[in-house]
Amino acid sequence: MNFELVDKKLSSINADCEIIFVVNKNLDHKFVKDSSYFKRVNYEGAEDSICSVISEGRVYVGIADIQNTDNIRVASAKAISALSGYSFESIKVGMYIDECQKRAIRSMVEGFVLGDYAFDKYKSEKAKHPIKTVYISTENYTDVKVDKDSAKKAIDSAIIIANATNLTRDIVNTMPNEATPKKVAKYAKKMAKENKVDIKIYDKEYLEENNMNAFLAVSRASINEPKLVHMTYIPTKTKAKVVLVGKGLTYDSGGLSLKPANFMTTMKADKSGASAIIGIIDAVAKLGLEVEVHGILGICENMIGGNAYKPDDVLVAKNGVTIEVQNTDAEGRLVLADCLCFAQENIQDFDYIIDFATLTGACVVALGEYTSGIMGHNCTLKHKLLRAGEASGELVATLPFNKYLSKQLKSEVADISNVSSSRYGGAITAGLFLDKFITKENKDKWAHIDIAGPAYVEKSWGCNPFGASGAGVRLTIKWLEQLLKVKEEEKK
Ligand code: BES
Ligand code: ZN
Ligand code: ZN
Repeated sequence: MNFELVDKKLSSINADCEIIFVVNKNLDHKFVKDSSYFKRVNYEGAEDSICSVISEGRVYVGIADIQNTDNIRVASAKAISALSGYSFESIKVGMYIDECQKRAIRSMVEGFVLGDYAFDKYKSEKAKHPIKTVYISTENYTDVKVDKDSAKKAIDSAIIIANATNLTRDIVNTMPNEATPKKVAKYAKKMAKENKVDIKIYDKEYLEENNMNAFLAVSRASINEPKLVHMTYIPTKTKAKVVLVGKGLTYDSGGLSLKPANFMTTMKADKSGASAIIGIIDAVAKLGLEVEVHGILGICENMIGGNAYKPDDVLVAKNGVTIEVQNTDAEGRLVLADCLCFAQENIQDFDYIIDFATLTGACVVALGEYTSGIMGHNCTLKHKLLRAGEASGELVATLPFNKYLSKQLKSEVADISNVSSSRYGGAITAGLFLDKFITKENKDKWAHIDIAGPAYVEKSWGCNPFGASGAGVRLTIKWLEQLLKVKEEEKK
Protein backbone atom coordinates (compact mmCIF):
# COMPACT_ATOMS: atom_id res chain seq x y z
CA MET A 1 0.00 0.00 0.00
CA ASN A 2 1.43 3.36 -1.08
CA PHE A 3 0.43 6.71 0.35
CA GLU A 4 0.38 9.96 -1.56
CA LEU A 5 -0.23 13.35 -0.07
CA VAL A 6 -2.21 15.38 -2.59
CA ASP A 7 -2.66 19.12 -2.30
CA LYS A 8 -5.99 19.12 -4.12
CA LYS A 9 -9.66 19.01 -3.22
CA LEU A 10 -11.08 15.51 -2.88
CA SER A 11 -13.37 16.09 -5.88
CA SER A 12 -10.32 16.66 -8.11
CA ILE A 13 -8.67 13.39 -7.13
CA ASN A 14 -9.35 10.31 -9.21
CA ALA A 15 -9.69 7.14 -7.17
CA ASP A 16 -11.77 3.97 -7.27
CA CYS A 17 -13.24 4.56 -3.85
CA GLU A 18 -13.52 7.22 -1.16
CA ILE A 19 -13.44 6.71 2.61
CA ILE A 20 -15.48 9.15 4.69
CA PHE A 21 -15.71 9.36 8.46
CA VAL A 22 -19.02 10.48 9.92
CA VAL A 23 -17.96 12.49 12.96
CA ASN A 24 -20.37 12.62 15.88
CA LYS A 25 -23.27 11.56 13.60
CA ASN A 26 -22.94 14.77 11.59
CA LEU A 27 -24.48 13.68 8.31
CA ASP A 28 -24.70 17.29 7.15
CA HIS A 29 -20.95 17.75 6.76
CA LYS A 30 -19.67 18.61 3.28
CA PHE A 31 -17.75 15.27 3.13
CA VAL A 32 -21.00 13.29 3.43
CA LYS A 33 -22.78 12.72 0.14
CA ASP A 34 -25.28 9.89 0.23
CA SER A 35 -28.01 11.28 2.51
CA SER A 36 -30.94 9.85 0.59
CA TYR A 37 -29.35 6.42 0.64
CA PHE A 38 -28.79 6.74 4.40
CA LYS A 39 -32.47 7.53 4.88
CA ARG A 40 -33.41 4.45 2.90
CA VAL A 41 -31.18 2.10 4.89
CA ASN A 42 -31.58 3.98 8.20
CA TYR A 43 -27.86 4.72 8.59
CA GLU A 44 -27.17 7.27 11.31
CA GLY A 45 -23.38 7.20 11.45
CA ALA A 46 -23.24 5.73 14.96
CA GLU A 47 -19.76 5.10 16.37
CA ASP A 48 -18.00 2.19 14.64
CA SER A 49 -20.90 1.57 12.24
CA ILE A 50 -20.02 1.10 8.59
CA CYS A 51 -22.08 1.92 5.54
CA SER A 52 -20.69 0.84 2.18
CA VAL A 53 -22.20 2.56 -0.84
CA ILE A 54 -20.31 0.37 -3.23
CA SER A 55 -22.09 1.46 -6.41
CA GLU A 56 -20.93 5.02 -5.76
CA GLY A 57 -17.49 3.97 -4.57
CA ARG A 58 -17.89 5.34 -1.07
CA VAL A 59 -17.50 3.82 2.39
CA TYR A 60 -18.59 5.58 5.60
CA VAL A 61 -17.44 4.83 9.13
CA GLY A 62 -18.93 6.51 12.19
CA ILE A 63 -16.58 7.99 14.80
CA ALA A 64 -17.38 9.79 18.03
CA ASP A 65 -14.94 12.70 17.71
CA ILE A 66 -11.60 13.55 16.14
CA GLN A 67 -9.97 14.89 19.32
CA ASN A 68 -9.31 11.35 20.52
CA THR A 69 -7.14 10.38 17.58
CA ASP A 70 -7.41 6.68 18.33
CA ASN A 71 -10.96 6.94 16.97
CA ILE A 72 -9.42 7.83 13.62
CA ARG A 73 -6.97 4.92 13.82
CA VAL A 74 -9.71 2.40 14.57
CA ALA A 75 -12.09 3.79 11.92
CA SER A 76 -9.33 3.70 9.29
CA ALA A 77 -8.55 0.09 10.13
CA LYS A 78 -12.25 -0.81 9.93
CA ALA A 79 -12.68 0.95 6.59
CA ILE A 80 -9.71 -0.82 5.02
CA SER A 81 -10.79 -4.22 6.21
CA ALA A 82 -14.36 -3.55 4.98
CA LEU A 83 -12.88 -2.87 1.53
CA SER A 84 -10.65 -5.94 1.45
CA GLY A 85 -13.34 -8.00 -0.26
CA TYR A 86 -13.68 -5.61 -3.21
CA SER A 87 -11.38 -4.92 -6.11
CA PHE A 88 -10.83 -1.18 -5.57
CA GLU A 89 -7.18 -0.47 -6.21
CA SER A 90 -7.04 3.15 -5.16
CA ILE A 91 -8.81 5.10 -2.46
CA LYS A 92 -8.96 8.75 -1.46
CA VAL A 93 -9.59 10.29 1.92
CA GLY A 94 -9.59 13.74 3.47
CA MET A 95 -7.84 14.77 6.65
CA TYR A 96 -9.55 14.74 10.01
CA ILE A 97 -7.47 17.28 11.84
CA ASP A 98 -7.74 20.25 14.14
CA GLU A 99 -5.06 21.12 16.72
CA CYS A 100 -2.60 18.28 16.57
CA GLN A 101 -2.34 17.60 12.85
CA LYS A 102 0.62 15.26 13.01
CA ARG A 103 -0.98 12.96 15.53
CA ALA A 104 -4.27 12.75 13.61
CA ILE A 105 -2.61 12.04 10.27
CA ARG A 106 -0.34 9.46 11.83
CA SER A 107 -3.33 7.73 13.42
CA MET A 108 -5.13 7.53 10.10
CA VAL A 109 -2.20 6.06 8.20
CA GLU A 110 -1.35 3.64 11.03
CA GLY A 111 -4.98 2.53 10.97
CA PHE A 112 -4.86 1.82 7.24
CA VAL A 113 -1.66 -0.26 7.46
CA LEU A 114 -2.74 -2.06 10.63
CA GLY A 115 -6.21 -2.74 9.22
CA ASP A 116 -4.75 -4.18 6.02
CA TYR A 117 -2.90 -6.85 8.03
CA ALA A 118 -3.92 -10.46 7.56
CA PHE A 119 -2.12 -13.52 8.88
CA ASP A 120 -2.57 -16.08 6.11
CA LYS A 121 0.68 -18.04 6.30
CA TYR A 122 -1.18 -21.31 6.81
CA LYS A 123 -4.13 -20.66 4.49
CA SER A 124 -4.17 -22.15 1.01
CA GLU A 125 -6.15 -19.16 -0.16
CA LYS A 126 -4.19 -16.01 0.59
CA ALA A 127 -5.72 -12.71 1.64
CA LYS A 128 -6.08 -10.23 -1.18
CA HIS A 129 -4.70 -6.79 -0.59
CA PRO A 130 -6.37 -5.02 -3.52
CA ILE A 131 -5.69 -1.44 -2.41
CA LYS A 132 -2.41 -0.26 -3.88
CA THR A 133 -2.62 3.50 -3.42
CA VAL A 134 -4.16 5.75 -0.80
CA TYR A 135 -4.46 9.41 -1.79
CA ILE A 136 -4.62 11.69 1.23
CA SER A 137 -6.07 15.04 0.34
CA THR A 138 -5.12 18.21 2.20
CA GLU A 139 -8.82 19.07 2.12
CA ASN A 140 -9.82 18.56 5.70
CA TYR A 141 -12.75 18.22 8.04
CA THR A 142 -12.30 21.51 9.89
CA ASP A 143 -10.89 23.54 6.98
CA VAL A 144 -7.64 24.34 8.75
CA LYS A 145 -4.38 25.12 7.01
CA VAL A 146 -2.30 22.00 6.55
CA ASP A 147 1.44 21.98 7.22
CA LYS A 148 2.44 19.78 4.29
CA ASP A 149 5.98 19.03 5.44
CA SER A 150 4.85 17.83 8.81
CA ALA A 151 1.96 15.90 7.22
CA LYS A 152 4.43 14.11 4.95
CA LYS A 153 6.63 13.26 7.94
CA ALA A 154 3.64 11.96 9.88
CA ILE A 155 2.68 9.70 6.97
CA ASP A 156 6.22 8.31 6.67
CA SER A 157 6.52 7.63 10.42
CA ALA A 158 3.12 5.98 10.53
CA ILE A 159 4.03 3.55 7.76
CA ILE A 160 7.22 2.55 9.58
CA ILE A 161 5.54 2.12 12.96
CA ALA A 162 2.55 0.17 11.63
CA ASN A 163 4.77 -2.10 9.52
CA ALA A 164 6.93 -2.78 12.59
CA THR A 165 3.77 -3.63 14.53
CA ASN A 166 2.76 -6.02 11.74
CA LEU A 167 6.23 -7.61 11.88
CA THR A 168 5.72 -8.29 15.59
CA ARG A 169 2.25 -9.67 14.86
CA ASP A 170 3.70 -12.05 12.27
CA ILE A 171 6.29 -13.43 14.68
CA VAL A 172 3.80 -13.88 17.53
CA ASN A 173 1.23 -15.54 15.25
CA THR A 174 3.75 -18.02 13.84
CA MET A 175 3.05 -21.49 15.15
CA PRO A 176 5.30 -22.95 17.84
CA ASN A 177 6.48 -25.87 15.70
CA GLU A 178 7.96 -23.34 13.29
CA ALA A 179 8.91 -20.49 15.60
CA THR A 180 11.42 -22.33 17.79
CA PRO A 181 13.96 -20.33 19.83
CA LYS A 182 16.50 -20.73 17.03
CA LYS A 183 13.98 -19.45 14.49
CA VAL A 184 12.91 -16.46 16.61
CA ALA A 185 16.59 -15.54 16.99
CA LYS A 186 16.76 -15.75 13.20
CA TYR A 187 13.82 -13.35 12.84
CA ALA A 188 15.76 -10.94 15.07
CA LYS A 189 18.86 -11.44 12.93
CA LYS A 190 16.96 -10.75 9.72
CA MET A 191 15.57 -7.51 11.16
CA ALA A 192 19.00 -6.53 12.50
CA LYS A 193 20.74 -7.16 9.18
CA GLU A 194 18.16 -5.18 7.27
CA ASN A 195 18.65 -2.19 9.58
CA LYS A 196 22.38 -2.47 10.24
CA VAL A 197 21.68 -3.20 13.88
CA ASP A 198 24.39 -5.09 15.74
CA ILE A 199 23.28 -8.51 17.01
CA LYS A 200 24.80 -11.22 19.15
CA ILE A 201 23.09 -14.58 19.57
CA TYR A 202 24.22 -16.67 22.53
CA ASP A 203 23.38 -20.34 23.02
CA LYS A 204 23.11 -22.83 25.85
CA GLU A 205 26.88 -23.00 26.44
CA TYR A 206 27.05 -19.26 26.99
CA LEU A 207 24.19 -19.44 29.49
CA GLU A 208 26.03 -22.24 31.31
CA GLU A 209 29.33 -20.36 31.38
CA ASN A 210 27.57 -17.28 32.71
CA ASN A 211 25.54 -18.91 35.46
CA MET A 212 22.16 -18.15 33.96
CA ASN A 213 20.71 -21.16 35.75
CA ALA A 214 17.14 -19.94 36.14
CA PHE A 215 16.84 -19.38 32.37
CA LEU A 216 18.55 -22.75 31.72
CA ALA A 217 16.24 -24.62 34.10
CA VAL A 218 13.14 -23.39 32.25
CA SER A 219 14.54 -24.42 28.87
CA ARG A 220 16.03 -27.77 29.90
CA ALA A 221 13.18 -30.14 29.00
CA SER A 222 12.80 -28.83 25.47
CA ILE A 223 14.57 -30.39 22.49
CA ASN A 224 14.78 -26.84 21.15
CA GLU A 225 17.70 -25.15 22.86
CA PRO A 226 17.45 -21.66 24.35
CA LYS A 227 18.80 -18.50 22.73
CA LEU A 228 19.80 -15.25 24.34
CA VAL A 229 19.79 -12.35 21.90
CA HIS A 230 21.45 -8.96 22.38
CA MET A 231 20.69 -6.38 19.69
CA THR A 232 22.23 -2.92 19.73
CA TYR A 233 21.08 0.07 17.73
CA ILE A 234 23.50 3.00 17.87
CA PRO A 235 22.44 6.16 16.03
CA THR A 236 24.95 8.70 14.74
CA LYS A 237 23.76 11.18 17.36
CA THR A 238 22.63 9.86 20.74
CA LYS A 239 20.46 11.67 23.27
CA ALA A 240 19.51 8.74 25.51
CA LYS A 241 20.26 5.10 26.15
CA VAL A 242 17.52 2.58 26.75
CA VAL A 243 17.53 -1.16 27.46
CA LEU A 244 14.54 -3.31 26.51
CA VAL A 245 14.23 -6.85 27.87
CA GLY A 246 11.69 -9.32 26.49
CA LYS A 247 10.16 -12.63 27.54
CA GLY A 248 10.36 -14.96 24.56
CA LEU A 249 8.71 -18.25 25.50
CA THR A 250 8.10 -19.84 22.10
CA TYR A 251 5.79 -22.18 23.97
CA ASP A 252 4.60 -22.31 27.56
CA SER A 253 3.09 -25.70 28.36
CA GLY A 254 3.41 -24.83 32.04
CA GLY A 255 6.14 -27.45 32.48
CA LEU A 256 5.52 -30.12 35.13
CA SER A 257 2.93 -27.78 36.70
CA LEU A 258 1.20 -28.48 33.39
CA LYS A 259 -1.46 -26.11 32.11
CA PRO A 260 -4.97 -27.52 31.58
CA ALA A 261 -5.67 -28.09 27.84
CA ASN A 262 -7.88 -25.03 27.41
CA PHE A 263 -5.28 -22.76 29.03
CA MET A 264 -2.42 -24.12 26.94
CA THR A 265 -3.80 -23.03 23.59
CA THR A 266 -2.57 -19.56 22.62
CA MET A 267 0.67 -20.10 24.55
CA LYS A 268 2.59 -19.70 21.29
CA ALA A 269 1.95 -16.03 22.09
CA ASP A 270 4.15 -16.26 25.18
CA LYS A 271 6.96 -14.90 22.97
CA SER A 272 5.14 -11.58 22.57
CA GLY A 273 7.54 -9.56 24.75
CA ALA A 274 10.60 -10.57 22.73
CA SER A 275 8.66 -10.20 19.47
CA ALA A 276 7.61 -6.67 20.44
CA ILE A 277 11.26 -5.71 20.93
CA ILE A 278 12.14 -6.95 17.43
CA GLY A 279 9.40 -4.67 16.07
CA ILE A 280 10.42 -1.73 18.29
CA ILE A 281 14.05 -1.84 17.16
CA ASP A 282 12.97 -2.17 13.54
CA ALA A 283 10.94 1.04 13.91
CA VAL A 284 13.59 2.90 15.94
CA ALA A 285 16.23 2.15 13.29
CA LYS A 286 13.99 3.03 10.33
CA LEU A 287 12.85 6.26 12.01
CA GLY A 288 16.48 7.02 12.88
CA LEU A 289 15.56 8.00 16.44
CA GLU A 290 18.47 9.54 18.33
CA VAL A 291 18.46 6.98 21.09
CA GLU A 292 20.76 4.03 21.69
CA VAL A 293 18.56 0.99 22.14
CA HIS A 294 19.60 -2.41 23.47
CA GLY A 295 17.22 -5.33 23.03
CA ILE A 296 17.75 -8.38 25.22
CA LEU A 297 15.60 -11.38 24.35
CA GLY A 298 15.30 -14.48 26.54
CA ILE A 299 14.02 -17.11 24.13
CA CYS A 300 13.19 -20.70 25.10
CA GLU A 301 10.42 -23.26 25.49
CA ASN A 302 8.81 -24.43 28.75
CA MET A 303 8.21 -28.15 28.28
CA ILE A 304 7.97 -31.42 30.22
CA GLY A 305 10.29 -34.44 30.20
CA GLY A 306 12.57 -36.59 32.31
CA ASN A 307 15.01 -33.77 32.81
CA ALA A 308 12.45 -31.02 33.34
CA TYR A 309 12.95 -28.60 36.22
CA LYS A 310 10.64 -29.36 39.09
CA PRO A 311 8.52 -27.74 41.75
CA ASP A 312 10.78 -27.93 44.88
CA ASP A 313 13.97 -27.27 42.90
CA VAL A 314 16.12 -24.40 44.11
CA LEU A 315 17.78 -22.42 41.33
CA VAL A 316 20.71 -20.03 41.64
CA ALA A 317 20.15 -17.05 39.34
CA LYS A 318 22.95 -15.15 37.59
CA ASN A 319 23.25 -12.65 40.45
CA GLY A 320 23.50 -15.43 43.07
CA VAL A 321 19.93 -15.06 44.39
CA THR A 322 18.45 -18.48 45.20
CA ILE A 323 14.92 -19.18 43.99
CA GLU A 324 12.61 -21.89 45.28
CA VAL A 325 10.49 -23.21 42.41
CA GLN A 326 6.96 -23.78 43.60
CA ASN A 327 5.30 -23.71 40.22
CA THR A 328 7.05 -24.37 36.91
CA ASP A 329 4.35 -22.37 35.12
CA ALA A 330 5.74 -19.18 36.67
CA GLU A 331 8.66 -19.55 34.25
CA GLY A 332 8.70 -16.15 32.55
CA ARG A 333 9.98 -14.40 35.69
CA LEU A 334 12.83 -16.97 35.93
CA VAL A 335 13.95 -16.28 32.36
CA LEU A 336 13.59 -12.53 32.87
CA ALA A 337 15.48 -12.63 36.19
CA ASP A 338 18.63 -13.85 34.44
CA CYS A 339 18.10 -11.58 31.42
CA LEU A 340 17.69 -8.52 33.66
CA CYS A 341 20.95 -9.47 35.45
CA PHE A 342 22.67 -9.96 32.08
CA ALA A 343 21.50 -6.55 30.88
CA GLN A 344 22.55 -4.69 34.02
CA GLU A 345 25.97 -6.37 34.11
CA ASN A 346 26.77 -5.94 30.43
CA ILE A 347 25.30 -2.57 29.50
CA GLN A 348 26.65 0.53 31.21
CA ASP A 349 25.14 3.94 31.93
CA PHE A 350 21.70 3.44 30.49
CA ASP A 351 18.86 5.83 31.30
CA TYR A 352 16.04 3.29 31.41
CA ILE A 353 15.48 -0.45 31.48
CA ILE A 354 12.02 -1.68 30.51
CA ASP A 355 10.88 -5.28 30.33
CA PHE A 356 7.96 -6.60 28.29
CA ALA A 357 6.32 -9.90 29.10
CA THR A 358 3.14 -11.92 28.84
CA LEU A 359 3.81 -12.60 32.48
CA THR A 360 0.56 -13.32 34.30
CA GLY A 361 -3.03 -14.37 33.77
CA ALA A 362 -3.67 -12.25 36.88
CA CYS A 363 -2.90 -9.10 34.89
CA VAL A 364 -5.63 -10.05 32.43
CA VAL A 365 -8.04 -10.66 35.32
CA ALA A 366 -7.15 -7.29 36.83
CA LEU A 367 -7.28 -5.08 33.74
CA GLY A 368 -9.18 -7.05 31.11
CA GLU A 369 -7.88 -8.39 27.83
CA TYR A 370 -7.12 -5.08 26.17
CA THR A 371 -4.90 -3.31 28.68
CA SER A 372 -1.24 -3.73 29.61
CA GLY A 373 -0.11 -3.35 33.21
CA ILE A 374 2.76 -1.01 34.02
CA MET A 375 4.73 -1.50 37.23
CA GLY A 376 7.84 -0.02 38.81
CA HIS A 377 9.13 2.36 41.46
CA ASN A 378 9.55 5.50 39.38
CA CYS A 379 6.27 7.42 39.29
CA THR A 380 7.49 9.89 36.66
CA LEU A 381 8.49 7.06 34.35
CA LYS A 382 5.15 5.31 34.86
CA HIS A 383 3.34 8.58 34.20
CA LYS A 384 5.27 9.06 30.96
CA LEU A 385 4.39 5.56 29.83
CA LEU A 386 0.73 6.29 30.59
CA ARG A 387 0.93 9.42 28.44
CA ALA A 388 2.56 7.44 25.65
CA GLY A 389 -0.31 4.99 25.93
CA GLU A 390 -2.84 7.74 25.42
CA ALA A 391 -1.01 9.20 22.45
CA SER A 392 -0.36 5.86 20.76
CA GLY A 393 -3.79 4.33 21.28
CA GLU A 394 -2.43 1.44 23.32
CA LEU A 395 -4.37 0.87 26.52
CA VAL A 396 -2.19 0.86 29.64
CA ALA A 397 -2.75 1.18 33.38
CA THR A 398 -0.43 1.19 36.36
CA LEU A 399 -0.55 -1.42 39.09
CA PRO A 400 0.92 -0.30 42.42
CA PHE A 401 3.64 -2.15 44.34
CA ASN A 402 3.45 -2.38 48.12
CA LYS A 403 5.62 -3.92 50.84
CA TYR A 404 2.93 -6.32 52.06
CA LEU A 405 2.63 -8.07 48.71
CA SER A 406 6.43 -8.18 48.53
CA LYS A 407 6.52 -10.27 51.72
CA GLN A 408 4.36 -12.93 50.09
CA LEU A 409 7.31 -14.02 47.96
CA LYS A 410 9.18 -15.26 51.03
CA SER A 411 10.56 -18.77 50.88
CA GLU A 412 11.41 -21.00 53.85
CA VAL A 413 14.28 -22.65 52.00
CA ALA A 414 15.68 -20.08 49.55
CA ASP A 415 16.03 -16.30 49.16
CA ILE A 416 12.74 -16.04 47.32
CA SER A 417 9.91 -18.21 45.97
CA ASN A 418 8.85 -18.00 42.33
CA VAL A 419 5.20 -17.69 43.29
CA SER A 420 3.35 -15.68 45.90
CA SER A 421 1.79 -17.38 48.94
CA SER A 422 -1.55 -15.81 47.99
CA ARG A 423 -3.17 -15.76 44.59
CA TYR A 424 -4.42 -12.20 45.03
CA GLY A 425 -2.46 -9.48 43.26
CA GLY A 426 -0.67 -11.99 41.05
CA ALA A 427 0.40 -9.44 38.42
CA ILE A 428 1.98 -7.24 41.09
CA THR A 429 3.73 -10.09 42.92
CA ALA A 430 5.23 -11.18 39.58
CA GLY A 431 6.50 -7.63 39.10
CA LEU A 432 7.86 -7.63 42.66
CA PHE A 433 9.68 -10.88 41.91
CA LEU A 434 11.48 -9.16 39.01
CA ASP A 435 12.28 -6.25 41.32
CA LYS A 436 14.59 -8.57 43.32
CA PHE A 437 16.81 -8.72 40.24
CA ILE A 438 17.04 -4.98 39.72
CA THR A 439 20.08 -3.48 41.43
CA LYS A 440 19.68 -0.62 43.87
CA GLU A 441 21.07 2.00 41.50
CA ASN A 442 18.72 0.88 38.72
CA LYS A 443 15.47 0.82 40.71
CA ASP A 444 14.32 4.18 39.36
CA LYS A 445 15.35 3.36 35.81
CA TRP A 446 13.17 0.28 35.61
CA ALA A 447 9.60 -0.40 34.50
CA HIS A 448 7.89 -3.72 33.94
CA ILE A 449 5.09 -4.01 31.37
CA ASP A 450 2.81 -7.04 31.55
CA ILE A 451 1.26 -7.44 28.08
CA ALA A 452 -0.45 -10.80 28.81
CA GLY A 453 -3.89 -9.39 27.92
CA PRO A 454 -3.56 -7.37 24.70
CA ALA A 455 -0.63 -9.24 23.10
CA TYR A 456 -2.95 -11.93 21.78
CA VAL A 457 -6.75 -11.74 21.74
CA GLU A 458 -8.92 -14.38 20.09
CA LYS A 459 -11.21 -11.89 18.40
CA SER A 460 -10.75 -8.68 16.47
CA TRP A 461 -10.87 -5.44 18.50
CA GLY A 462 -10.09 -1.81 17.68
CA CYS A 463 -7.47 -1.72 14.96
CA ASN A 464 -6.41 -5.30 15.75
CA PRO A 465 -7.40 -8.54 14.06
CA PHE A 466 -7.88 -11.95 15.69
CA GLY A 467 -4.59 -13.06 17.27
CA ALA A 468 -1.47 -11.00 17.82
CA SER A 469 -1.83 -7.22 18.16
CA GLY A 470 1.82 -6.17 18.35
CA ALA A 471 1.24 -4.74 21.84
CA GLY A 472 4.15 -2.64 23.09
CA VAL A 473 5.44 -1.43 19.73
CA ARG A 474 3.42 1.74 19.24
CA LEU A 475 3.54 2.48 22.97
CA THR A 476 7.33 2.29 23.18
CA ILE A 477 7.98 4.28 20.01
CA LYS A 478 5.71 7.04 21.33
CA TRP A 479 7.47 6.97 24.72
CA LEU A 480 10.88 7.22 23.04
CA GLU A 481 9.72 10.09 20.82
CA GLN A 482 8.37 11.97 23.83
CA LEU A 483 11.58 11.27 25.75
CA LEU A 484 13.65 12.72 22.90
CA LYS A 485 11.39 15.76 22.66
CA VAL A 486 11.97 16.50 26.35
CA LYS A 487 15.74 16.11 25.91
CA GLU A 488 15.56 18.50 22.96
CA GLU A 489 13.67 21.08 25.01
CA GLU A 490 16.08 20.74 27.95
CA LYS A 491 18.90 21.68 25.61
CA LYS A 492 17.19 24.89 24.50
N1 BES B 1 2.50 -17.18 30.15
C1 BES B 1 1.77 -17.25 31.35
C2 BES B 1 0.87 -16.04 31.58
C3 BES B 1 -0.25 -15.80 30.60
C4 BES B 1 -1.54 -16.18 30.90
C5 BES B 1 -0.03 -15.12 29.42
C6 BES B 1 -2.57 -15.92 30.00
C7 BES B 1 -1.05 -14.87 28.53
C8 BES B 1 -2.32 -15.27 28.82
C9 BES B 1 2.70 -17.37 32.54
O1 BES B 1 3.90 -18.02 32.32
C10 BES B 1 1.97 -18.14 33.60
O2 BES B 1 1.61 -19.24 33.34
N2 BES B 1 1.74 -17.52 34.75
C11 BES B 1 1.05 -18.12 35.81
C12 BES B 1 1.70 -17.72 37.11
C13 BES B 1 1.23 -18.48 38.30
C14 BES B 1 1.66 -19.93 38.21
C15 BES B 1 1.80 -17.83 39.53
C16 BES B 1 -0.40 -17.64 35.77
O3 BES B 1 -0.63 -16.48 35.40
O4 BES B 1 -1.28 -18.42 36.07
ZN1 ZN C 1 3.75 -20.13 32.53
ZN1 ZN D 1 4.62 -17.94 30.33
